[in-house]
Amino acid sequence: MSAIFNFTFVPWFRSVAPYIHMHRGKTFVLGMAGEAVAAGKLQHIAQDIALIQSMGVKVVLVHGFRPQVNEQLKAKGHAARYSHGMRITDEVALDCAQEAAGQLRYEIEAAFSQGLPNTPMAGSTVRVISGNFITARPVGILDGVDFQHSGMVRKVDVAGIKRTIDLGALVLLSPFGFSPTGEAFNLTMEEVATSVAIALQADKLVFLTEIPGVRTRPLEAEGEDNPIDTELPLAAAEQLLASLPPASNPSDTGFYLQHCVKACKAGVERSHIIPFAVDGSLLLEVYVHDGIGTMVVDEKLEELREATADDVGGILQLIEPFEKDGTLVKRDRTEIERDIANYTIIDHDGVIFACAALYPYPEARTGEMAALTVSPQSQGQGDGEKILRRVEQRARAMGLESIFVLTTRTMHWFLKRGFVQVDPDWLPEARKRKYNWDRKSMVFVKKLT
Ligand SMILES: CC(C)(COP(=O)(O)OP(=O)(O)OC[C@H]1O[C@@H](n2cnc3c(N)ncnc32)[C@H](O)[C@@H]1OP(=O)(O)O)[C@@H](O)C(=O)NCCC(=O)NCCS
Repeated sequence: MSAIFNFTFVPWFRSVAPYIHMHRGKTFVLGMAGEAVAAGKLQHIAQDIALIQSMGVKVVLVHGFRPQVNEQLKAKGHAARYSHGMRITDEVALDCAQEAAGQLRYEIEAAFSQGLPNTPMAGSTVRVISGNFITARPVGILDGVDFQHSGMVRKVDVAGIKRTIDLGALVLLSPFGFSPTGEAFNLTMEEVATSVAIALQADKLVFLTEIPGVRTRPLEAEGEDNPIDTELPLAAAEQLLASLPPASNPSDTGFYLQHCVKACKAGVERSHIIPFAVDGSLLLEVYVHDGIGTMVVDEKLEELREATADDVGGILQLIEPFEKDGTLVKRDRTEIERDIANYTIIDHDGVIFACAALYPYPEARTGEMAALTVSPQSQGQGDGEKILRRVEQRARAMGLESIFVLTTRTMHWFLKRGFVQVDPDWLPEARKRKYNWDRKSMVFVKKLT
């Protein structure tokens, strides 16, 4: 083993440790689009889920089967019929759905049963348990269209699922539900996953999808200057949904987003949309700081928002002690009043207990994050990180490629969050002219990917 490997592997593994500790004992509901299996991604996804489970996460996996049902229908020469963005499940389609679900269940169980030496599954023991955990009701007749065997979730057997995942098993659900009369109904993977996540009050709902996430400017074409928005606050996600046309196709921006918003509003704090096309996307989303797809997050206890003129007094009060001890450069009231629109704050019942400002330098495609402060009584609870993420979001929306900070005492906090040190010469010309060479602040930059 080379010495270089030790130097890269050990710090890398340790950097993942906080996430391993954080997720242990938590419940994740994963919704995997049937397209992921059709695209041949099942083996790697199963390996990643097995790894997550072995690190103490309780997993409910819901699989989709849209392409598999369509394939069966095609083989039978029967056309797939849709209305109101839903499948109309007639007798033939129900047959096809049952066949597709049976086949997929075997494939998924087989994937979790691998265990060859020298593979990521060696030594893993994932017990997969499926069952009649979902009670369904018929969609019925909508605008004169009879949806026949298409159904909606009526009830989730929370106690049954909890008992099963507490035993250490993985619960695997097909998009099927049964009525008290013993009829089977065809459901959608998205609805089942969302309902189960809400019923269990899961810690995360994750959709493994054919789309990479939601872009910063969702209605514009994809491109390097329009990256994936890694974190969408619930309010912003709701606003975005309202501005989008109704989503009926899985590739529509609002398709998975509507389920994420629904889950978040009903108490699932974090819902994610990630691409199955990227190998290891689940691991990247769960164990890496910025993740890979889009996370809709409900910040319910306090309000994270842009500052207004009314907040000047609160900001001054918050930063003053840190100006006095030299951690922050002195700013007077008129300066903060003038720049108030640049500030992001966290406010709890009218008290501001965290802030940061973003000063863009568009000519250099970068921006300075300044005056980052969390009040001493609430430090260490992740508020600094929340403010940083929001500032990054604001910078991305402005088309900036990086943010930088000047610091004399907080370098390690920034290093841990993906910043790297650069020479003060790196600063944009306009900022360099104001650089205080006596203060000898260090400059740290974070690229916004
Ligand atoms: C730096 C600061 C904004 C972090 O806010 P926070 O809400 O406490 O941060 P988070 O909760 O997201 O992160 C807490 C972690 O950062 C660490 N941390 C806090 N201050 C740190 C510092 N100066 N250097 C290195 N790490 C620091 C904590 O020990 C904690 O680590 P842990 O998770 O391993 O226990 C806050 O400590 C602060 O306001 N400091 C004074 C003002 C300041 O230095 N601003 C930056 C000017 S450039």
